[in-house]
Amino acid sequence: MFELVDEWGPEKVVTVSHPRSGMQGVLVIDNTSRGPGKGGTRMSPDLTVEEVARLARVMTWKWAAVDLYQGGAKAGIRFDPTSPRKEEALRAFARMLRNEVPAEYVFGLDMGLDETDAAILCDELGDRGAATGTPAALGGVAYDALGITGHGVAEAVDAAAAHTDLDDRRVVIQGFGAVGHATARRLVELGYTVVAVSTATGAVHDPDGLDVEELLALRAEHGDALVDHAGGQRLDAGQELHLDAGVLVPAARQGVIDAGNADGIRARLVVEGANLPTDAAAQQALADRGVTVVPDFIANAGGIIAAAFGMRDRYSPFGVDTTQIVPTVTERMRTNTTTVLQAAAESGTIPHAAAGQLARDRVREAMRLRGQLPC
Ligand SMILES: NC(=O)c1ccc[n+]([C@@H]2O[C@H](COP(=O)([O-])OP(=O)(O)OC[C@H]3O[C@@H](n4cnc5c(N)ncnc54)[C@H](O)[C@@H]3O)[C@@H](O)[C@H]2O)c1
Repeated sequence: MFELVDEWGPEKVVTVSHPRSGMQGVLVIDNTSRGPGKGGTRMSPDLTVEEVARLARVMTWKWAAVDLYQGGAKAGIRFDPTSPRKEEALRAFARMLRNEVPAEYVFGLDMGLDETDAAILCDELGDRGAATGTPAALGGVAYDALGITGHGVAEAVDAAAAHTDLDDRRVVIQGFGAVGHATARRLVELGYTVVAVSTATGAVHDPDGLDVEELLALRAEHGDALVDHAGGQRLDAGQELHLDAGVLVPAARQGVIDAGNADGIRARLVVEGANLPTDAAAQQALADRGVTVVPDFIANAGGIIAAAFGMRDRYSPFGVDTTQIVPTVTERMRTNTTTVLQAAAESGTIPHAAAGQLARDRVREAMRLRGQLPC
């Protein structure tokens, strides 16, 4: 396990095992120089310690990049989330981490866990603040229902458009799930025209603009098949990436834009709603053609900003103050987007490199001030 350790972390790795349920789990606290460890808790049958360590590191950079005072951490349970014995595994996992939770780590939601699981984790430790992402009836916040990540992606689009003097306000959105639909909704409020959206089923395109209200209603009724019922020209999924528009928001899956198709992107601005939708070669190819790419961990950070409110207010008798979440996400997303694009311009690098550098500089400075760096 020592090969997982480098100059940044992890500071602590705790593995647990419970033979009766068959649960195995791991908590990785990566770097807490800027604040206590926070990141989601996932459950999957083939989870590995390396995977959790990698995700904990991503959290270290994400918190630093959005300039919030939390550290990187992640926990994982190697167990089938569809098993009828899920609760037993969750309870065993929580019990075995009672020395670390909530003092050094607070459970959160990730793949395989939902809000009812967060409630079980709190119950097992007899501590309301042991997890964020609990149901509203327990004082938690339904972030996906608020559409907070998509709201932030749209604000990042608008800030980047202003920064790059983009006047083409036509937008293509790949993916119309939790992130994509909320991005579309907010972009319309901000005066943009959504000309195409897609789901795994296919895409729809109307150069004059789609009716987003109608799309939202169709999504509620038909899910991914909304594209079969919407007005506009029906296209195969993937074709939307190459349509004529000022802005492209990939908000579905990772690895959709690579060296093979980057040259076909006609948008001048790509704002990454999904995690890792572009690879390094695509980012460089797009930059070479003057296309601005706003990195995922800047553009889709609305969810973790909301999670930070959950962290702060998790013991409050008033519950989480939701009135502050949207204005804060708006302000942070705009500031962070502009800061990163400015830093990229000043350093002559691509925004992904500038954002990574900014995060590393912040973490290194915190480590220096706390006397953690080698003499
Ligand atoms: N939900 C969040 O708060 C959040 C936060 C940060 C990052 N993300 C990232 O955003 C991305 C989307 O997450 P989500 O929560 O919206 O997921 P989701 O499951 O709610 O929606 C995904 C959407 O993408 C569509 N899709 C899948 N394959 C596609 C394809 N080949 N072509 C076009 N569309 C396709 C699906 O049909 C669906 O509409 C993921 O990369 C996720 O990691 C989500």
